[in-house]
Amino acid sequence: MTLGTPSSQAYGEPWYWDNRYAHESAPFDWYQKYPALASLIHLYVPHRHERILVVGCGNSVFSEDMVNDGYEDVVNVDISSVVIEAMQTKYSNCQQLKYIKLDVRDMSPFQAGSFAAVIDKGTLDSILITYGAPVYRLGLLKESCMWSIKLHHKSLQNKNMIRETKFGAEGSSEQPTRALTDPILLDESGSSVEDVLGKNADVHYIYVCTKVRKFSTQRFFWALPIILPAIPLSRPYMLI
Ligand SMILES: C[S@@+](CC[C@H](N)C(=O)[O-])C[C@H]1O[C@@H](n2cnc3c(N)ncnc32)[C@H](O)[C@@H]1O
Repeated sequence: MTLGTPSSQAYGEPWYWDNRYAHESAPFDWYQKYPALASLIHLYVPHRHERILVVGCGNSVFSEDMVNDGYEDVVNVDISSVVIEAMQTKYSNCQQLKYIKLDVRDMSPFQAGSFAAVIDKGTLDSILITYGAPVYRLGLLKESCMWSIKLHHKSLQNKNMIRETKFGAEGSSEQPTRALTDPILLDESGSSVEDVLGKNADVHYIYVCTKVRKFSTQRFFWALPIILPAIPLSRPYMLI
């Protein structure tokens, strides 16, 4: 522990989260809740019987909502023993949900190909402390692995759709809209996103990363900012 560490720099430290969850036990979802992202999860994780990993689950009800939506095998990990113990107690009668204390930087307890998809909502953010538009974050993802990356966004102003600022005059009712499930055209640097959404767009980004391998393709999801090179998946990784 580093004494006097500003809280934002402590987001990757287990003591910070243990302390926080000891004092704030009520369920809380960072950024987005499951219903807001369900259409995207359905798109990339269509088979509900497959095993899904949620990294840095916290005390979010995202996984519970997935189970209520039909997902049958959701494994949740978090670095905080306080939150994992609380979630194990809360969901002791729910066989579709498992909670394991784990530092996601060491995935050795799981064999390669253990999961059909991985969902990260705010955890890579905590570890890397990165903020900003895709142009700042794509490099981090690309450094870690051979990914094919799709970028989606969730408008914080309009629940499901956002106008494309590149086309049509502002305020025009003729402007095209983009659904959550439609990826944004992404160039190598990520600068194309600004052309589509405008500068300082009020959105949450969702990075859907498909690991490219010699003989197989693995998809990942990333919601906001992350890279988990050691993660053993067989398909999607979603970063929110
Ligand atoms: C911003 S919160 C997000 C919680 C939840 N995913 C949500 O969307 O509400 C980040 C979570 O990541 C966990 N975390 C931080 N570093 C971690 C690590 N190295 N391994 C596993 N979990 C970690 C924290 O304990 C915390 O629960």
